[in-house]
Amino acid sequence: MEWTTTRGTEVPPLGQGTWRFGEDAAQRSREVDALRAGIEAGLTLIDTAEAYAEGRSEEIVRDAVADCRDQVFLTTKVWPSHAGRAAVLSSLDQSLKRLGTDWVDLYLLHWPSSQTPLAETMAGLVDALDRGLARHIGVSNFPAALLEEAHRLTGGRVFANQVRYGLATREPETTLAAVAARLDTSLMAYSPIRHVLGPDTAVNDVLADVAHEHGVSPAAVALAWIMRPAAAQWVVVVKAANRAHLADNAAALRLALSATDLDRLDRAFPASGEDLHLQTF
Ligand SMILES: NC(=O)c1ccc[n+]([C@@H]2O[C@H](COP(=O)([O-])OP(=O)(O)OC[C@H]3O[C@@H](n4cnc5c(N)ncnc54)[C@H](OP(=O)(O)O)[C@@H]3O)[C@@H](O)[C@H]2O)c1
Repeated sequence: MEWTTTRGTEVPPLGQGTWRFGEDAAQRSREVDALRAGIEAGLTLIDTAEAYAEGRSEEIVRDAVADCRDQVFLTTKVWPSHAGRAAVLSSLDQSLKRLGTDWVDLYLLHWPSSQTPLAETMAGLVDALDRGLARHIGVSNFPAALLEEAHRLTGGRVFANQVRYGLATREPETTLAAVAARLDTSLMAYSPIRHVLGPDTAVNDVLADVAHEHGVSPAAVALAWIMRPAAAQWVVVVKAANRAHLADNAAALRLALSATDLDRLDRAFPASGEDLHLQTF
Protein backbone atom coordinates (compact mmCIF):
# COMPACT_ATOMS: atom_id res chain seq x y z
CA MET A 1 0.00 0.00 0.00
CA GLU A 2 1.41 3.37 -1.08
CA TRP A 3 1.45 6.26 1.32
CA THR A 4 -1.03 9.00 0.56
CA THR A 5 0.54 12.24 -0.61
CA THR A 6 -1.14 15.45 0.49
CA ARG A 7 0.46 18.72 -0.56
CA GLY A 8 3.81 16.99 -1.04
CA THR A 9 3.77 15.31 2.39
CA GLU A 10 3.54 11.55 2.57
CA VAL A 11 0.98 10.36 5.11
CA PRO A 12 0.59 6.71 6.15
CA PRO A 13 -2.78 5.51 4.83
CA LEU A 14 -3.61 3.55 8.00
CA GLY A 15 -3.05 4.86 11.49
CA GLN A 16 -3.73 4.00 15.11
CA GLY A 17 -6.25 5.74 17.33
CA THR A 18 -5.80 6.13 21.07
CA TRP A 19 -9.23 7.14 22.39
CA ARG A 20 -9.77 5.45 25.81
CA PHE A 21 -6.02 4.74 26.16
CA GLY A 22 -4.77 5.93 29.52
CA GLU A 23 -8.10 5.55 31.31
CA ASP A 24 -7.07 2.42 33.20
CA ALA A 25 -3.54 2.51 34.65
CA ALA A 26 -3.46 -1.29 34.77
CA GLN A 27 -3.67 -1.39 30.93
CA ARG A 28 -0.82 1.02 30.34
CA SER A 29 1.92 -1.43 29.29
CA ARG A 30 -0.58 -3.34 27.12
CA GLU A 31 -1.53 -0.12 25.35
CA VAL A 32 2.11 0.89 24.78
CA ASP A 33 2.77 -2.63 23.47
CA ALA A 34 -0.19 -2.43 21.07
CA LEU A 35 1.01 0.88 19.64
CA ARG A 36 4.52 -0.49 19.15
CA ALA A 37 3.19 -3.62 17.47
CA GLY A 38 1.10 -1.42 15.20
CA ILE A 39 4.10 0.70 14.22
CA GLU A 40 6.05 -2.47 13.39
CA ALA A 41 3.10 -3.63 11.26
CA GLY A 42 3.12 -0.39 9.26
CA LEU A 43 0.40 1.62 11.07
CA THR A 44 2.76 4.55 11.50
CA LEU A 45 0.25 7.36 11.87
CA ILE A 46 -0.74 7.84 15.52
CA ASP A 47 -3.76 9.91 16.50
CA THR A 48 -4.23 11.24 20.02
CA ALA A 49 -5.72 14.31 21.73
CA GLU A 50 -5.28 16.40 24.85
CA ALA A 51 -8.82 15.38 25.82
CA TYR A 52 -8.14 11.63 25.83
CA ALA A 53 -7.84 10.52 29.46
CA GLU A 54 -6.92 14.11 30.39
CA GLY A 55 -3.59 13.87 28.56
CA ARG A 56 -2.61 10.39 29.70
CA SER A 57 -3.21 9.02 26.20
CA GLU A 58 -0.51 11.41 24.95
CA GLU A 59 1.85 10.08 27.62
CA ILE A 60 1.24 6.53 26.41
CA VAL A 61 2.05 7.65 22.88
CA ARG A 62 5.28 9.22 24.21
CA ASP A 63 6.36 5.88 25.68
CA ALA A 64 5.49 4.05 22.45
CA VAL A 65 7.38 6.38 20.10
CA ALA A 66 10.31 7.41 22.33
CA ASP A 67 12.86 5.57 20.19
CA CYS A 68 11.13 5.92 16.81
CA ARG A 69 9.69 9.46 16.80
CA ASP A 70 10.98 10.16 13.29
CA GLN A 71 9.20 7.12 11.88
CA VAL A 72 5.70 8.13 12.94
CA PHE A 73 3.26 10.77 11.76
CA LEU A 74 1.99 12.15 15.05
CA THR A 75 -1.39 13.89 15.29
CA THR A 76 -2.90 15.50 18.37
CA LYS A 77 -5.84 17.83 18.96
CA VAL A 78 -6.84 20.88 20.96
CA TRP A 79 -10.20 20.75 22.75
CA PRO A 80 -12.65 23.57 21.83
CA SER A 81 -12.57 25.07 25.34
CA HIS A 82 -8.92 25.96 24.61
CA ALA A 83 -9.65 27.36 21.16
CA GLY A 84 -8.60 30.99 21.77
CA ARG A 85 -5.47 32.14 19.91
CA ALA A 86 -3.13 32.07 22.93
CA ALA A 87 -4.82 29.03 24.48
CA VAL A 88 -4.17 26.96 21.35
CA LEU A 89 -0.43 27.51 21.70
CA SER A 90 -0.47 26.87 25.42
CA SER A 91 -2.40 23.61 24.89
CA LEU A 92 0.07 22.57 22.23
CA ASP A 93 2.98 23.33 24.53
CA GLN A 94 1.51 21.00 27.15
CA SER A 95 0.75 18.32 24.57
CA LEU A 96 4.34 18.46 23.30
CA LYS A 97 5.63 17.99 26.85
CA ARG A 98 3.37 14.98 27.42
CA LEU A 99 4.33 13.56 24.01
CA GLY A 100 8.06 14.09 24.66
CA THR A 101 8.64 15.77 21.30
CA ASP A 102 9.38 19.24 19.93
CA TRP A 103 6.80 19.10 17.15
CA VAL A 104 3.70 17.27 15.96
CA ASP A 105 3.11 16.37 12.36
CA LEU A 106 -0.50 17.50 12.51
CA TYR A 107 -2.39 19.64 15.04
CA LEU A 108 -6.20 19.67 14.83
CA LEU A 109 -9.08 21.55 16.41
CA HIS A 110 -11.00 18.58 17.89
CA TRP A 111 -14.56 19.91 17.34
CA PRO A 112 -16.03 23.23 16.21
CA SER A 113 -16.31 25.56 19.19
CA SER A 114 -19.62 27.02 20.36
CA GLN A 115 -17.78 29.83 22.19
CA THR A 116 -14.67 30.94 20.35
CA PRO A 117 -14.75 32.54 16.90
CA LEU A 118 -13.13 30.26 14.35
CA ALA A 119 -10.83 33.10 13.22
CA GLU A 120 -9.13 33.08 16.63
CA THR A 121 -8.54 29.35 16.63
CA MET A 122 -7.22 29.31 13.10
CA ALA A 123 -4.85 32.17 13.95
CA GLY A 124 -3.56 30.09 16.87
CA LEU A 125 -3.05 27.09 14.62
CA VAL A 126 -1.18 29.22 12.06
CA ASP A 127 1.01 30.50 14.93
CA ALA A 128 1.84 26.86 15.72
CA LEU A 129 2.83 26.34 12.07
CA ASP A 130 4.94 29.48 11.94
CA ARG A 131 6.79 28.49 15.12
CA GLY A 132 7.56 25.03 13.76
CA LEU A 133 5.61 23.35 16.58
CA ALA A 134 3.23 21.73 14.07
CA ARG A 135 4.25 20.67 10.57
CA HIS A 136 0.60 20.79 9.45
CA ILE A 137 -2.69 22.04 10.87
CA GLY A 138 -6.28 21.03 10.47
CA VAL A 139 -9.72 20.55 11.93
CA SER A 140 -12.01 17.74 12.96
CA ASN A 141 -15.75 17.20 12.67
CA PHE A 142 -16.09 20.09 10.23
CA PRO A 143 -18.95 19.93 7.71
CA ALA A 144 -18.23 21.31 4.23
CA ALA A 145 -19.25 24.95 4.77
CA LEU A 146 -17.19 25.29 7.94
CA LEU A 147 -14.21 23.65 6.26
CA GLU A 148 -14.42 26.27 3.51
CA GLU A 149 -14.42 28.96 6.21
CA ALA A 150 -11.35 27.48 7.92
CA HIS A 151 -9.63 27.30 4.54
CA ARG A 152 -10.34 30.97 3.88
CA LEU A 153 -9.19 32.05 7.35
CA THR A 154 -5.83 30.29 7.01
CA GLY A 155 -5.04 31.21 3.42
CA GLY A 156 -5.60 27.62 2.38
CA ARG A 157 -3.47 25.91 5.01
CA VAL A 158 -5.97 23.32 6.28
CA PHE A 159 -4.12 20.08 5.66
CA ALA A 160 -6.73 17.66 7.03
CA ASN A 161 -10.25 17.30 8.39
CA GLN A 162 -10.83 14.28 10.66
CA VAL A 163 -14.42 13.01 10.52
CA ARG A 164 -16.41 9.87 11.24
CA TYR A 165 -16.47 7.66 8.16
CA GLY A 166 -16.91 4.01 7.37
CA LEU A 167 -19.21 1.56 5.60
CA ALA A 168 -22.09 2.33 7.97
CA THR A 169 -21.38 6.06 8.32
CA ARG A 170 -21.02 7.45 4.80
CA GLU A 171 -22.29 11.04 5.40
CA PRO A 172 -18.98 12.69 4.38
CA GLU A 173 -19.54 11.42 0.82
CA THR A 174 -22.63 13.59 0.39
CA THR A 175 -20.93 17.01 0.20
CA LEU A 176 -17.73 17.10 2.23
CA ALA A 177 -15.56 14.78 0.12
CA ALA A 178 -15.88 16.89 -3.04
CA VAL A 179 -15.26 20.12 -1.17
CA ALA A 180 -12.20 18.69 0.58
CA ALA A 181 -10.84 17.45 -2.75
CA ARG A 182 -11.27 20.89 -4.28
CA LEU A 183 -9.45 22.48 -1.32
CA ASP A 184 -6.70 19.80 -1.46
CA THR A 185 -7.52 18.88 2.14
CA SER A 186 -6.95 15.31 3.24
CA LEU A 187 -9.76 13.48 5.08
CA MET A 188 -9.05 11.23 8.08
CA ALA A 189 -11.68 8.60 8.83
CA TYR A 190 -12.28 7.96 12.52
CA SER A 191 -14.36 5.17 14.10
CA PRO A 192 -13.98 3.22 10.82
CA ILE A 193 -15.17 -0.09 12.24
CA ARG A 194 -16.98 0.75 15.50
CA HIS A 195 -20.34 1.14 13.71
CA VAL A 196 -19.82 -1.88 11.47
CA LEU A 197 -18.43 -4.40 13.94
CA GLY A 198 -19.49 -3.03 17.31
CA PRO A 199 -20.23 -5.43 20.15
CA ASP A 200 -23.98 -5.12 19.50
CA THR A 201 -23.75 -5.26 15.69
CA ALA A 202 -24.15 -8.52 13.80
CA VAL A 203 -21.53 -8.82 11.05
CA ASN A 204 -23.17 -8.05 7.74
CA ASP A 205 -23.35 -11.17 5.52
CA VAL A 206 -21.80 -9.51 2.48
CA LEU A 207 -18.94 -8.14 4.56
CA ALA A 208 -18.39 -11.59 6.07
CA ASP A 209 -18.44 -13.22 2.60
CA VAL A 210 -15.96 -10.76 1.07
CA ALA A 211 -13.67 -11.23 4.07
CA HIS A 212 -13.91 -15.01 3.81
CA GLU A 213 -13.12 -14.95 0.08
CA HIS A 214 -9.95 -12.92 0.71
CA GLY A 215 -8.96 -14.89 3.82
CA VAL A 216 -9.00 -11.78 6.02
CA SER A 217 -11.18 -10.46 8.84
CA PRO A 218 -14.28 -8.29 8.27
CA ALA A 219 -12.33 -5.47 9.95
CA ALA A 220 -9.65 -5.62 7.23
CA VAL A 221 -12.34 -5.37 4.53
CA ALA A 222 -14.01 -2.42 6.26
CA LEU A 223 -10.66 -0.61 6.44
CA ALA A 224 -9.57 -1.49 2.89
CA TRP A 225 -12.94 -0.19 1.63
CA ILE A 226 -12.09 3.28 3.00
CA MET A 227 -8.61 3.08 1.41
CA ARG A 228 -10.05 2.13 -2.01
CA PRO A 229 -8.21 3.88 -4.88
CA ALA A 230 -11.31 5.89 -5.85
CA ALA A 231 -11.23 7.54 -2.40
CA ALA A 232 -7.54 8.50 -2.44
CA GLN A 233 -7.99 11.55 -0.20
CA TRP A 234 -8.83 9.37 2.82
CA VAL A 235 -6.50 8.06 5.48
CA VAL A 236 -7.86 5.88 8.27
CA VAL A 237 -7.43 5.90 12.04
CA VAL A 238 -8.43 2.68 13.78
CA LYS A 239 -8.00 1.85 17.45
CA ALA A 240 -6.94 -1.59 18.60
CA ALA A 241 -5.71 -2.51 22.04
CA ASN A 242 -4.58 -6.04 21.30
CA ARG A 243 -2.13 -7.67 18.89
CA ALA A 244 -4.71 -9.96 17.25
CA HIS A 245 -6.83 -6.97 16.26
CA LEU A 246 -3.72 -5.16 15.03
CA ALA A 247 -2.73 -8.07 12.82
CA ASP A 248 -6.28 -8.13 11.39
CA ASN A 249 -6.17 -4.41 10.71
CA ALA A 250 -2.67 -4.40 9.20
CA ALA A 251 -3.90 -6.94 6.63
CA ALA A 252 -5.96 -4.10 5.14
CA LEU A 253 -2.71 -2.56 3.88
CA ARG A 254 -2.19 -5.57 1.59
CA LEU A 255 -5.83 -6.08 0.59
CA ALA A 256 -6.99 -4.95 -2.86
CA LEU A 257 -10.77 -5.18 -3.19
CA SER A 258 -12.04 -5.96 -6.68
CA ALA A 259 -14.64 -3.89 -8.53
CA THR A 260 -17.11 -6.67 -7.78
CA ASP A 261 -16.30 -6.58 -4.05
CA LEU A 262 -16.76 -2.80 -4.02
CA ASP A 263 -20.05 -3.06 -5.83
CA ARG A 264 -21.36 -5.70 -3.41
CA LEU A 265 -20.29 -3.62 -0.40
CA ASP A 266 -21.86 -0.50 -1.89
CA ARG A 267 -25.20 -2.27 -2.17
CA ALA A 268 -24.93 -3.84 1.30
CA PHE A 269 -24.03 -0.47 2.89
CA PRO A 270 -25.83 2.19 0.81
CA ALA A 271 -24.62 5.78 0.86
CA SER A 272 -26.42 7.88 3.46
CA GLY A 273 -27.65 10.85 1.41
CA GLU A 274 -27.45 12.90 4.64
CA ASP A 275 -24.78 15.52 5.23
CA LEU A 276 -22.40 15.50 8.14
CA HIS A 277 -24.21 17.50 10.84
CA LEU A 278 -22.60 20.43 12.59
CA GLN A 279 -21.99 19.68 16.27
CA THR A 280 -20.18 22.11 18.54
CA PHE A 281 -18.62 21.92 22.00
N1 LIG B 1 -11.86 13.49 16.01
C1 LIG B 1 -12.79 12.92 16.75
O1 LIG B 1 -13.76 13.55 17.21
C2 LIG B 1 -12.71 11.44 17.02
C3 LIG B 1 -13.81 10.75 17.52
C4 LIG B 1 -13.70 9.37 17.73
C5 LIG B 1 -12.49 8.74 17.46
N2 LIG B 1 -11.41 9.45 17.02
C6 LIG B 1 -10.10 8.80 16.77
O2 LIG B 1 -10.29 7.69 15.90
C7 LIG B 1 -9.82 6.50 16.53
C8 LIG B 1 -10.59 5.31 16.05
O3 LIG B 1 -11.97 5.44 16.33
P1 LIG B 1 -12.70 4.61 17.48
O4 LIG B 1 -11.73 4.22 18.53
O5 LIG B 1 -13.89 5.39 17.86
O6 LIG B 1 -13.31 3.36 16.72
P2 LIG B 1 -12.76 2.16 15.83
O7 LIG B 1 -11.30 2.27 15.65
O8 LIG B 1 -13.62 2.10 14.64
O9 LIG B 1 -13.14 0.92 16.73
C9 LIG B 1 -12.44 0.60 17.90
C10 LIG B 1 -13.09 -0.63 18.50
O10 LIG B 1 -12.98 -1.70 17.55
C11 LIG B 1 -12.28 -2.80 18.15
N3 LIG B 1 -11.42 -3.40 17.13
C12 LIG B 1 -10.23 -2.94 16.66
N4 LIG B 1 -9.75 -3.77 15.70
C13 LIG B 1 -10.65 -4.78 15.58
C14 LIG B 1 -10.70 -5.94 14.79
N5 LIG B 1 -9.72 -6.22 13.91
N6 LIG B 1 -11.77 -6.76 14.92
C15 LIG B 1 -12.77 -6.48 15.79
N7 LIG B 1 -12.77 -5.39 16.59
C16 LIG B 1 -11.71 -4.55 16.49
C17 LIG B 1 -11.46 -2.21 19.28
O11 LIG B 1 -11.26 -3.20 20.26
P3 LIG B 1 -9.87 -3.32 21.10
O12 LIG B 1 -9.57 -1.95 21.60
O13 LIG B 1 -10.19 -4.30 22.15
O14 LIG B 1 -8.79 -3.81 20.17
C18 LIG B 1 -12.38 -1.10 19.76
O15 LIG B 1 -13.39 -1.62 20.61
C19 LIG B 1 -9.96 6.83 18.03
O16 LIG B 1 -9.25 5.95 18.85
C20 LIG B 1 -9.48 8.25 18.04
O17 LIG B 1 -8.05 8.31 17.97
C21 LIG B 1 -11.51 10.78 16.78
